[in-house]
Amino acid sequence: MRLKNKVAIVTGASSGIGRCIAELFAREGAIVILVARNMGALQLVEHMLRKQGKKAESMVMNVSDREEVSKGIKLIAAKYGKIDILVNDAGVAKWGSIQEVTYRDFDEHIKVNVYGYFNLIKETVPYMLRKKTGCIINIISGSGQRARPGTVAYATSKFAARGLSDAVFEDLKDKGINVTAISPGKTNTPIHKLAPDAPERKKMLDPHEVAKLALYVACLPSQVKMKDVSIRPLE
Ligand SMILES: NC(=O)c1ccc[n+]([C@@H]2O[C@H](COP(=O)([O-])OP(=O)(O)OC[C@H]3O[C@@H](n4cnc5c(N)ncnc54)[C@H](OP(=O)(O)O)[C@@H]3O)[C@@H](O)[C@H]2O)c1
Repeated sequence: MRLKNKVAIVTGASSGIGRCIAELFAREGAIVILVARNMGALQLVEHMLRKQGKKAESMVMNVSDREEVSKGIKLIAAKYGKIDILVNDAGVAKWGSIQEVTYRDFDEHIKVNVYGYFNLIKETVPYMLRKKTGCIINIISGSGQRARPGTVAYATSKFAARGLSDAVFEDLKDKGINVTAISPGKTNTPIHKLAPDAPERKKMLDPHEVAKLALYVACLPSQVKMKDVSIRPLE
């Protein structure tokens, strides 16, 4: 029970990496606020956790919508009196070279993968500062360190999100709040459904391994800093 009674917001908790993190954090005793846009998918996770006696509640939120995020975070803080952990995971990935990418897809990546992370951090940090403690985990990607062909929108958004994580780390490092960017390599989740060159799924990372790393990060004391960490499959 390494996260007993910690209030943890996990975005993207209905699927893939976010879902594995939410489930693991709940098993470790956290009260997990499951965030995504699709209530039905969130409730599947919530009901499964509640059946096991874990604490979870669903909150529909489009992370790119500033008003929705602000309202949601205020509700959570009013209900629980604190926010201990924020995991920014909700993200989109559509493939396309500079010739192929549409303005609409590029906008969507910036709105969800960059503004989405910024909105949640901006609204949550005041509550963490009040308690002089907290942990922010931003799920970035190998594409936020080195772009591959056909990832114009995705890589741009992930480089920006990594820069955001880095800058927020610097602002909060001596205020009791840890900020960590976790960059997974290819991970076996539904996000690869539309990828043209998806490698064999068995060669990808298991999302539960990323969740275990997130748990390790969430348990670090505020004097121990892990600003940026990568996790990769063998190939
Ligand atoms: N899988 C990989 O290989 C890999 C590698 C490195 C990094 N990542 C990163 O890991 C994160 C999770 O990816 P995944 O592979 O687990 O993807 P996934 O299975 O497709 O899950 C994406 C999650 O994000 C939510 N989401 C998307 N847009 C949203 C929005 N506007 N507002 C709120 N929630 C939204 C989705 O729920 P709704 O659609 O219901 O909103 C879903 O819960 C992403 O940031 C991704 O870039 C993935």
